[in-house]
Amino acid sequence: MDRINTVLRRVPTGVVWVGGLVPLAWLVWAAASNALGPDPVKGIELRLGLWGLQFLIASLAITPLRQTGLNLIRFRRALGVLAFIYITLHFSAWVVLDMGLRWDEITADLVKRPYVILGMVGLLAMLPLAITSTNAAIRKLGGARWRQLHRLAYVAGIAGVAHFVVLVKGWPPEPLLYAGALAILLLLRLSRRRQAA
Ligand code: HEM
Repeated sequence: MDRINTVLRRVPTGVVWVGGLVPLAWLVWAAASNALGPDPVKGIELRLGLWGLQFLIASLAITPLRQTGLNLIRFRRALGVLAFIYITLHFSAWVVLDMGLRWDEITADLVKRPYVILGMVGLLAMLPLAITSTNAAIRKLGGARWRQLHRLAYVAGIAGVAHFVVLVKGWPPEPLLYAGALAILLLLRLSRRRQAA
């Protein structure tokens, strides 16, 4: 593992940023070339939501992975901010492309539809994390308070997965896989806290 970590230390974080933005670039290209099938708006919305959730779960997996000796901590911030970017775009696609900026319908959905409410809880939980993701904000808050605040990432993960589970009809395996992954990450986190106490 030491050798892997030595190699990883040489990988610039820019690689994660560029790699993480490749799906977005592909989506812009696919939308511009009419390659998203008969319902491109849904295609855009669903992909952005799914990628956002994947980046969020990847960022949450970094700390437990340290217990195996694998140190990916340098890439955690990029993964978390990428999750926020994709979820903000997912929300914007819903507001602009899906709802056509019809604010009366948007506000009605925001109070009426459980999956929209859960999604909003996820997005709002991610907002303070994105705002405090800079070095200056970490210094200002102090490590302990910053870590406490960043537990909100689990709230965002739970709300995001619940949003996915509620919006799909029936019990397809995909949202349950994300729910399972998140449950494992939460259990690992809780067991680490108990060990530390
Ligand atoms: C942490 C926050 C969020 C996460 C992780 C998330 C994730 C997802 C995922 C994974 C899907 C399903 C993709 C698929 O079926 O392949 C989805 C669908 C959707 N999300 Fe989100 N989302 C979030 C926030 C939001 C917010 C804030 C809104 C709007 C207020 C929203 C609106 C929608 C809509 C309208 C759909 C499509 C539902 C349909 O199939 O008709 N999401 N989201």
